[in-house]
Amino acid sequence: KPDAAQFVPEGKNWAALRSAAEGCRGCDLYQDATQTVFGEGPVPAKLMMVGEQPGDREDTEGHVFVGPAGRLLDKALAAAGISRDEVYLTNAVKHFKFTERGKRRIHQQPRRGEVVACFPWLREEIRVVRPSLVIVLGAVAAKALLGPSFKLTEHRGEVLEHEGLRIGVTVHPSAVLRAENRAEAYEELVSDLKALRKGL
Ligand code: URA
Ligand code: SF4
Repeated sequence: KPDAAQFVPEGKNWAALRSAAEGCRGCDLYQDATQTVFGEGPVPAKLMMVGEQPGDREDTEGHVFVGPAGRLLDKALAAAGISRDEVYLTNAVKHFKFTERGKRRIHQQPRRGEVVACFPWLREEIRVVRPSLVIVLGAVAAKALLGPSFKLTEHRGEVLEHEGLRIGVTVHPSAVLRAENRAEAYEELVSDLKALRKGL
């Protein structure tokens, strides 16, 4: 089975990784997406956050968290006393996965095989960024780092030690946008981020 590993240059810096990721064909998702959306932020950084995959806006603009979920994340970070400028932001999967409905492109959750195929990029980002804390946003990112049986709801707000990494757990900002009680879901995200920030 193909994965990203054959496209990952060995022992290279962030700029070389990002540039190599532009040509990744480690799974089928590059075919329909506009471009690879690699992580961004300071390198090294104390804090890394991992989302799921680029959305519609990220796909066309080529940058992480620039759409509606990103706006919500920015607000939640500010409320938790975290500056986005100090965070290295990335995703478990680097290409947008979607289905077309008329003119709209509807986000589709990546399959486990796609998350696994893309993992070599995330592993390399962690190597060069050297975060002291990695906050996973949502189940897809959590399972990418903690394994497929990880239960997000049982661990949100916690910092776990896993294979030499410190991993903080919370929900994805998109889950807040979809929540029935959005105000409450937002407050819970902010309170998780505040708690996790103490683990820095
Ligand atoms: N959702 C994500 O998980 N990542 C992005 O970059 C945008 C939306
Ligand atoms: Fe490569 Fe990841 Fe894109 Fe698949 S989603 S083609 S593994 S960068």
